[in-house]
Amino acid sequence: MVRIALALLTFAFGLAAAGAGSAASPRFNYILHCQGCHLADGGATPGKIPPLIGTGRFLAVEGGREFLVRVPGVSLSIVPDDELAELINWMLFRFSADDVPADFEPYTAEEVGRYRQEPLVEVETVRVGLIGPYDETPE
Ligand code: HEC
Repeated sequence: MVRIALALLTFAFGLAAAGAGSAASPRFNYILHCQGCHLADGGATPGKIPPLIGTGRFLAVEGGREFLVRVPGVSLSIVPDDELAELINWMLFRFSADDVPADFEPYTAEEVGRYRQEPLVEVETVRVGLIGPYDETPE
């Protein structure tokens, strides 16, 4: 696991150097920082990892917008604020387009930077309060 992480980091730094400072695309950041747990299709790993399919539903409830940034996998990732905002916007349309409200305003770097300062500890409790228990079977 550590070896894989190191290999990925070396790969990322190599690409960053090659790209001469250009920001990584949301898709690339997803592959590097999220896909290891959340799979290529955003599907669940029953009992371990919730699906990203359906995450647009959080946008319809009070506190849900913050939740999507404050979950530890997001808030504590090493992706910088501007790329993280893009990544979350990308994730929502990639895996949950049908659930994204019509009046959705894309996340901004400033907003993401603010929310991620308070990573969630009691993730499940907060999550259940927002949209209910984890449902391992995406619709
Ligand atoms: C090490 C594994 C891991 C990585 C890496 C990871 N996550 Fe997660 N993610 C989880 C787990 C486990 C949960 C369930 C909540 C918890 O226990 O943190 C979760 C929850 C979530 C949720 C809330 C889903 C819900 O329905 O409650 C979102 C959104 C999310 N992750 C997005 C991301 C994004 C975007 C990235 C990459 C920047 C990422 N995660 C990286 C494991 C991971």
